[in-house]
Amino acid sequence: MEYKNLLFDIEDGIATISFNRPKALNAMNAETMEELNSAIRRCNDDDAIKVVILTGVGKAFVAGADIVEMQDKEPVDALKIMERGHETYRSIEILPKPVIAAVNGFALGGGTEITLACDIRFASDRALFGTPEIGLGIIPGWGGTQRLTRIVGMGRAKEIVLSGETIDPQRAYELGLVNRVFPAETLMEETVKFAKKLSRMPAFAVKMAKHAINFGAELAIDHANRLEMECCAQCFSTHDQKEGMKAFVEKRKPNYIGR
Ligand code: CAA
Repeated sequence: MEYKNLLFDIEDGIATISFNRPKALNAMNAETMEELNSAIRRCNDDDAIKVVILTGVGKAFVAGADIVEMQDKEPVDALKIMERGHETYRSIEILPKPVIAAVNGFALGGGTEITLACDIRFASDRALFGTPEIGLGIIPGWGGTQRLTRIVGMGRAKEIVLSGETIDPQRAYELGLVNRVFPAETLMEETVKFAKKLSRMPAFAVKMAKHAINFGAELAIDHANRLEMECCAQCFSTHDQKEGMKAFVEKRKPNYIGR
């Protein structure tokens, strides 16, 4: 697929997807959503891609769903927009490879919601988070009420969603909404450095770790623990497990092949 509103680069096993509609602050219109959906599928299908970074061109990460496009929708069509967004964001969340949000600027509404579907959130000191939907007469529709609650807790999620207040990077860090904050100038460098570290990890173990966390989180503890045990046991079927442990015993660096 040709992308009009995204940039897609692959270097050293790291795919960087950049939202690129800077005149509209990378607002998420239907076309961009289709492109993102396709880009994530490409990341899933290409074994050469080990880690994915999402970021934005210009002063925004994503300033939310495209309000201009959405404003006159009837409920039936609004629901389709929400469903497609959920499907796409869920595909980010369950992609069997790490996805890092490098939040360079405004990440509001649907923009914050994309970051919530990512595994790890790094923010520039110029980033801004929040769910301002309430001030538009709606509520978050791409996972904001659900993933935010699971990440920061119900009390804080209600404060954020009901007030629509914006959250600066320091507050986002205190809330556990972002993992790390960097000066704007070093955000991408630091994100790529971390992505490279993850890209060198044994891919099947990375996949199993993400799987156990994603699918165990909503289970009763005995089922969740059983899922973890089975995921861990499956790692013992890989070359990389044998190699990792052999290398440890032989006091050398492991040579992983991703299988
Ligand atoms: N949708 C459509 N266009 C948007 C947009 C959005 N979400 N956000 C910004 N833009 C457009 C503006 O309309 C403007 O376009 P024009 O130049 O054609 O007028 C351009 O981007 C630049 O924006 P501003 O002039 O407003 O820039 P600013 O620096 O003064 O303000 C901002 C930046 C605070 C992010 C402000 O643009 C803003 O509040 N944007 C909307 C944020 C928002 O409410 N997001 C939630 C959307 S609803 C949603 O996401 C629902 C859901 O969960 C699915």
